[in-house]
Amino acid sequence: MTMRSAPTHTESSSESKRPKVDAPQGKLGVLLPGMGAVATTFIAGCLLARRGLGQPFGSITQLGTIRLGKRNEGRVPRISDFVPLAGLSDLVFGTWDIFPDDALTVARESKVIEERHISPIADELGKIVPMAGAFYQEDVKRLRGTHVKAARNKAEMVEQLREDIRRFKREQGVERAVAVWCGSTERFVEPNAAHQSIESFEKALAANDASITGSALYAWACLQERVPFANGAPNLSVDFPAAWELARERNVAIAGKDFKTGQTLMKTVLAPAFKARALGLNGWFSTNILGNRDGEVLGEPENFHSKEVSKLGVLEHILEPERYPSLYGEMYHKVRIEYYPPRGDAKEGWDNIDIFGWLGYPMQIKIDFLCRDSILAAPLVLDLALFMDLAQRANLSGIQEWLSFFFKSPMHRPDLYPEHDLFIQSMKLKNTLRWLMGEELITHLGRDYYD
Ligand SMILES: NC(=O)c1ccc[n+]([C@@H]2O[C@H](COP(=O)([O-])OP(=O)(O)OC[C@H]3O[C@@H](n4cnc5c(N)ncnc54)[C@H](O)[C@@H]3O)[C@@H](O)[C@H]2O)c1
Repeated sequence: MTMRSAPTHTESSSESKRPKVDAPQGKLGVLLPGMGAVATTFIAGCLLARRGLGQPFGSITQLGTIRLGKRNEGRVPRISDFVPLAGLSDLVFGTWDIFPDDALTVARESKVIEERHISPIADELGKIVPMAGAFYQEDVKRLRGTHVKAARNKAEMVEQLREDIRRFKREQGVERAVAVWCGSTERFVEPNAAHQSIESFEKALAANDASITGSALYAWACLQERVPFANGAPNLSVDFPAAWELARERNVAIAGKDFKTGQTLMKTVLAPAFKARALGLNGWFSTNILGNRDGEVLGEPENFHSKEVSKLGVLEHILEPERYPSLYGEMYHKVRIEYYPPRGDAKEGWDNIDIFGWLGYPMQIKIDFLCRDSILAAPLVLDLALFMDLAQRANLSGIQEWLSFFFKSPMHRPDLYPEHDLFIQSMKLKNTLRWLMGEELITHLGRDYYD
């Protein structure tokens, strides 16, 4: 059996030059705009895991492994032993919210984790108090924020957020920080002339342009402060030409949008399987009941539309109806979210999938996913914070497409299609880590085992 000496590539070999990855030094600030159910579940889990009182299941930076070299070499380290990531004990949390409650109060009110998981870390949670939010009522009609900043215009609001970031870093003694948006889903906004260049966007900020929502102000402030920004909601935030340009100019990593946690995660597992086997699809009906604050916000049609767009893109991109008209040309895809308070964060998602096979005979698949929204999202916040920090130390600026794995609606260069297939996303993520560390990329060809 021969060992391959040259790296092999699945994509074109115009891969850019491998960067040098600086080792993490000191503490890492994790800034969370929006301190609700997801953010407090994430923080609590990190504090518990640090003390050995809980396990960070669902996090690939903590539990995932990566194969290196050939299948018979037996080199399968943990990801955390392979790439230089910040440790859990190095994280310092900073948050913003439009309500003043501390993380202990919010964690209790969110009813995601039980008192047995809250009381051991109550003191630490109680000390995490959100900074006042940058908020415009029209972005999230169902919330009436009481802990909000006042500014003459949106440019000034960005300046206040920048000052918050600088103060946080100074007070906490952190040199590096990353931000993960855990705030509400805002009304649907499409990029317009204001979003096209740094100059047009800055003019629009000063003119209080209504097409710039609160989340974009945090993103802009982070980019200016060279803080990588990952977007856990479907908001436009950092996904428009001016923000891509600023990210490149300031040399900052950006990623998004919308955590891929429950129903969409399942969709991006099953749809690639149908396509791989040339099974047809007539229809996919997805509905959810959800009773947390996120569900309440999504009860507003304009906010639901942001989520709907994010959820609907997945099947079109994976199944490519125009390329496979006989299999997917007629597919009907519908997604509903119903606010149903009794369930709280314990969401239930149903899927009815109408597929067809040989000679067109119909079949059905039903999924009933009784999940927990924030329990699924919290590990993604951790992985994104650690990988975005890694990207920044490796000097990878702009859109981090290798982190598509974590998102429902992955950000991508406008002339490329987004990669939704979970297994391609996973391979891309792991190959990026191998590439960063100078290891051979894995194509799964494997002919040489049999030569
Ligand atoms: N849990 C999941 O599985 C999942 C999956 C994908 C996306 N998401 C998204 O993650 C986000 C957080 O979810 P959650 O369940 O924690 O929601 P949540 O309602 O519990 O928390 C959101 C928090 O953001 C705050 N907020 C709103 N606008 C703000 C602003 N401009 N500045 C500062 N704070 C602001 C709200 O007051 C609230 O406390 C939502 O956008 C949700 O759609 C969640």
